[in-house]
Amino acid sequence: MQVVITTDQRAAGEYAADIVQRRAEEGALRVIGVATGSSPLPVYEALERRALPAVRAARAFALDEYVGLPPGHPESYRSVIAREVTDRLGLDPARVEVPDGAVEGLRTAGARYEELIAAAGGVDVQILGIGTTGHIGFNEPTSSLASRTRVKTLTEQTRRDNARFFDSPDDVPRHCVTQGLGTILDAREIVLVAIGSRKAAAVAAAVEGPVTAMCPASVLQMHPHVTVVVDDAAAVDLRLRAYYDEVFAHRPDWQV
Ligand code: GLP
Repeated sequence: MQVVITTDQRAAGEYAADIVQRRAEEGALRVIGVATGSSPLPVYEALERRALPAVRAARAFALDEYVGLPPGHPESYRSVIAREVTDRLGLDPARVEVPDGAVEGLRTAGARYEELIAAAGGVDVQILGIGTTGHIGFNEPTSSLASRTRVKTLTEQTRRDNARFFDSPDDVPRHCVTQGLGTILDAREIVLVAIGSRKAAAVAAAVEGPVTAMCPASVLQMHPHVTVVVDDAAAVDLRLRAYYDEVFAHRPDWQV
């Protein structure tokens, strides 16, 4: 893993956007994996400012969706992705996919989504946030490290964390459809962005802790091409911080 510590969230967004831009300019960004949550927002804002045709032309796959929200609900991830990603990046809405959280189709939603990703040729660059539980997508602690897209039950902590987006905490859905950890690991390159002190413990566990289903993001240690971009506040629990800064200061030119 390459760990990049930036002074603030705007710089984190710019750095992650540099990676996406580099891949796009290399012609290696046919499919981008996109995440909801506040941490990746600076990346989308940076990409919006750059208005890159090669990014606009990409196909996009979201990580996850709540189960059972009415179509068009403003906090469904389909709506959030449309607002924060499709519009900002200028993507073609017909080429942006989100898992289907409708109750009727749940038994097949995971397999259908896996087929769509495979038919698109897989994800070239996957952007990730991280939850305070250490989740990526909605893969909560004890998720199989080899899991594929499926229905998951949200932890109470995640429901509390996400309650700010709903009128009442009881309105937060209990279930979701999320890409599995195995699905996420299939992406050719992964960029995880974490902002703020609330994420410090999860970031340290993911980067420096053991690979364990108790911190699902730790499975990223098994992926050959991951960049973890954090602001100062999210980096405070990293024990090897000085080393990461050293690596960054002396990184070769070919490495974004
Ligand atoms: C949600 C999403 C995750 C995201 C996490 C953190 O639960 N399913 O993909 O990483 O929230 O969100 P935030 O960055 O807003 O803290």
